[in-house]
Amino acid sequence: MKIFVINGPNLNMLGIREPDIYGSGTYGDLVGMVKSFCWEHGVGVEFFQSNHEGDLVDFIQKAYKNADGIVINPAAYTHTSIAIADALKAVAVPYVEVHISDVSGRESYRQVSYIAENAVKTIAGKGLEGYIEAVKTLIGTEGKLC
Ligand code: DQA
Repeated sequence: MKIFVINGPNLNMLGIREPDIYGSGTYGDLVGMVKSFCWEHGVGVEFFQSNHEGDLVDFIQKAYKNADGIVINPAAYTHTSIAIADALKAVAVPYVEVHISDVSGRESYRQVSYIAENAVKTIAGKGLEGYIEAVKTLIGTEGKLC
């Protein structure tokens, strides 16, 4: 099994950016923990982070015939990008939407997600652990591990 872990704008600033909301873990920490989990469970994984909407669309398109699942945190593009939602629909690869913060308790403009409708699941407010839960969901072992 191969999964893509895709992160949108400003998530390269994790650890520096609003640590009261997003925590002190860095993007490198996130990659390290997801990589270890995937390695332990025999799952192939590829990471991508970009601050540019079109680059995120290009990488989502790469998932067609190349990935069995996608973990995606489109960050601010969650609330604005029909292009990202369309790309996810186009490739038709199962995906889990992740948000580090609990978007449901934040500003009203964060309550909108263009990608939630077709997601296998949306995980929010669980910090970096949410990415591990997303991988577990995709490998169909949620609740049976750890
Ligand atoms: C976020 C929530 C978004 O509203 C915000 O724009 C982000 C990160 C999260 O992980 O909590 O950049 O997706």
